[in-house]
Amino acid sequence: MRSIELREKYINFFVSKGHKQIPSAPVVPENDPSVLFNTAGMQPLVPYLMGQPHPYGKRLCDYQKCMRTNDLDEVGDLTHHTFFEMLGNWSLGDYFKKESISWSFEFLTKVLEIPVERLAVTVFKGNDIVEADSESANIWKSLGISEKRIKYLGEDDNWWPNMESTGPCGPDTEIFYFRSNDEIPEEFDTSDERWVEIWNNVFMQYNHNQDGTFTELPQKNVDTGMGVERVTALLEGQTDNYASSIWNDIIETIEKVSNLDYKGHEKEMRIIADHIRSAVFISADPAGIKPSNTDQGYILRRLIRRAIRYAKKLDIDINSDWEQEIALAIINKNKKYYVELEENKDVVLDVLRTEKVKFNRTLENGLKEFEKMINKVEGKVLDKDHAFRLYDTFGFPIELTVELAKEKGIEVDVEGFKEKFKKHQEISRAGAKEKFKGGLASTGKIETQYHTATHLLNAALKVVVGPQVHQRGSNITEERMRFDFSCDHKLTDDEKQKVQDLVNKWIDAGYPVIKEEMKKDDAIKSGAECMFVERYPDIVTVYKIGDVSAELCGGPHVSNTSELPHIKIKKEEAVSAGVRRIKAVFVN
Ligand code: ALA
Repeated sequence: MRSIELREKYINFFVSKGHKQIPSAPVVPENDPSVLFNTAGMQPLVPYLMGQPHPYGKRLCDYQKCMRTNDLDEVGDLTHHTFFEMLGNWSLGDYFKKESISWSFEFLTKVLEIPVERLAVTVFKGNDIVEADSESANIWKSLGISEKRIKYLGEDDNWWPNMESTGPCGPDTEIFYFRSNDEIPEEFDTSDERWVEIWNNVFMQYNHNQDGTFTELPQKNVDTGMGVERVTALLEGQTDNYASSIWNDIIETIEKVSNLDYKGHEKEMRIIADHIRSAVFISADPAGIKPSNTDQGYILRRLIRRAIRYAKKLDIDINSDWEQEIALAIINKNKKYYVELEENKDVVLDVLRTEKVKFNRTLENGLKEFEKMINKVEGKVLDKDHAFRLYDTFGFPIELTVELAKEKGIEVDVEGFKEKFKKHQEISRAGAKEKFKGGLASTGKIETQYHTATHLLNAALKVVVGPQVHQRGSNITEERMRFDFSCDHKLTDDEKQKVQDLVNKWIDAGYPVIKEEMKKDDAIKSGAECMFVERYPDIVTVYKIGDVSAELCGGPHVSNTSELPHIKIKKEEAVSAGVRRIKAVFVN
């Protein structure tokens, strides 16, 4: 198969236009507790879009690992994926519409050699904040896009991410490709599905504030995004994304382990390919996510369990090493771009195997139990108690039960299940669910306060427990902070009290929180705390809190510790061997 090697072409092109390539950030965000996964290339760049200078300059490009799980159930068709890669180029207050549009056009028509006749665009038609984008339309016209191929659309289509999310945003121009051998209509009809969006150039010049107002950012940015899977498929002439060079080795491996042809088993094989690929990328990430019942771990669990169920549908022997083989095909295919896949290969394979063994133990009986339940269902709804039994005893994520029931034309009392679930587990997934809807969430006042408190907690643990303590993860919501750290023992009550008292003492001391840019080597030498050394660029931001804490971090933080309420440690528990977790809240 002809592979178009889109990533290389893209990066080379933008480097030739003065951009610096930056590494992909982890798919599990390190310093942004407001989302479970990076959903767009710009997400790790928010502080820089807001005005903070980027150590690599004002023109950046990359390929970025992204996950969108809001339509996980759609996977199985021609185009949906949960994990995907996004190509992006950015201007941080440097070039604007003219260069951005001209370069996109040049890349598409000269480098990828797409005929102009196959292209059409949309531009923003204007609202209360900004007028119609005739400037972009005129640039497109000057490049040779005919008037009939330029459509003005409103906020729903040409404002990114949308009018609701807070954070940086703006009008955009989207580029479409005619994906069909039919004669290309002269006039671009945006409702004609043969026109497929391939690239989005956002003119990110506003901030949507928490109070609902829009203000101009200190600089005018460009943020663009192009999906690798989609564009590769269409340039290789495939209508099925999974038939492209991005997926072919993986599908072939699934054909091999199942002894079946892709043809006739497309849905099952696409689900297995997509879900295992996502599970591989999530578990290879430095955050060390493991299958669990909350947050990213829950998504990971759902992906693996759903893949297993579809493998069963293909009569794959679940006890064989089928998932290891598929994972290895994925790792081998992508390790050139993502070294962590090779580095964490054993971890990834272990995550898959362990979760498979766990689920496989109960899957067969669970399915039998499900059949029994379905036969006894009165009316058309499976009640909450049965759904909960499938979850609790057989490890069926509720989404799996819903999917199984749907195949039988039966609904599930999901609301009732959730109430029951909440009662049984203190943890509510509802909050987490909000977080992986996609789009952006911003860091509010309380999260910012918790973020600073996290640095204090990290520092206090080093004083009380010892300098060998290091951060292993962190997650913040408006309600609490959660902090994972390396430690070989359960903290004693005395240790917990001392840690809490020390943090509160530092809060009372009113230490200033100061941000400094410095060379990474100097920062490390000076003893600044840093979770993943290799992940940071050569120039880093260090946040110093008085003389008690110094950490590499993207922020945001309060400016003085006196802005924080006191903290209270609510819980200290094990996460895995050698890793402990503290949950703490603010008290007034
Ligand atoms: N951030 C923009 C998107 O994801 C480019 O479409």
